[in-house]
Amino acid sequence: MLDVKEIEIFRGEAQILWRVSLTIQEGEIVTLLGANGAGKTTFLESVLGVHHPRSGEIYFRGRNISGINPFDIARIGISSVPEGRRLFKDMTVYENLEMGAYPKRARSSLLESLTWVFSLFPVLEVRKKQIAGTLSGGEQQMLAIGRALMSKPQLLLIDELSLGLSPKITKEIYETIQKLNKEGVTILVIEQNAALALRYSNRGYVLETGRITLQGSSTELLNDEHIRKAYLGM
Ligand SMILES: Nc1ncnc2c1ncn2[C@@H]1O[C@H](COP(=O)(O)OP(=O)(O)O)[C@@H](O)[C@H]1O
Ligand SMILES: [Mg+2]
Repeated sequence: MLDVKEIEIFRGEAQILWRVSLTIQEGEIVTLLGANGAGKTTFLESVLGVHHPRSGEIYFRGRNISGINPFDIARIGISSVPEGRRLFKDMTVYENLEMGAYPKRARSSLLESLTWVFSLFPVLEVRKKQIAGTLSGGEQQMLAIGRALMSKPQLLLIDELSLGLSPKITKEIYETIQKLNKEGVTILVIEQNAALALRYSNRGYVLETGRITLQGSSTELLNDEHIRKAYLGM
């Protein structure tokens, strides 16, 4: 579904990603692991068209999207949950969700999408009139995911899913991610919490200072010596 081929990404003069390749098959949950500063967010933003590769290509459903404009990305079926969530904090839960339905295709099925999001995160329905900034951290992450789903994506990219959340809430959100995946949404999760992410995903990649250094099935990665030392603290 997504096929990133040897992209080289620069931010200003600085090279951030070196020949990074990553594929996601339809129906998968894939984890991208890496320490702070490895280039994970830069990678996600490259798929979203924020940074354009100096070389290499990005294909989505066979179409080369390497030069795509970020405003067009939702229209082709890719949606993201940004690092730090970036909610409209002074707006209500309902208004935030409404903002997520901006492609034309999504506008016409706003009610249907709302029902879907509320079925995945019932707490959002309870709090639909509440100001987003007053929600708990976990609820804000649920809202950020819900907002991303309002554009009815085929591929959902989530940056730092568990950052700042309690283990209990994190687990709850991962359970919902799994449910979402069974309902047909393909997912890329960017995480520093390797143990949890790998438990819920099919495959994983490790990004270290801008290069993919390791990839494999989640089981392989969970048993890998380097991963156990560097990311699982064993
Ligand atoms: N706006 C920017 N301009 C130039 N370099 C940046 C910018 N933002 C981040 N970087 C650099 O890009 C590298 C990767 O950052 P980032 O993609 O945010 O990593 P991660 O998400 O894995 O923590 C870091 O070395 C960081 O300093
Ligand atoms: Mg980041």
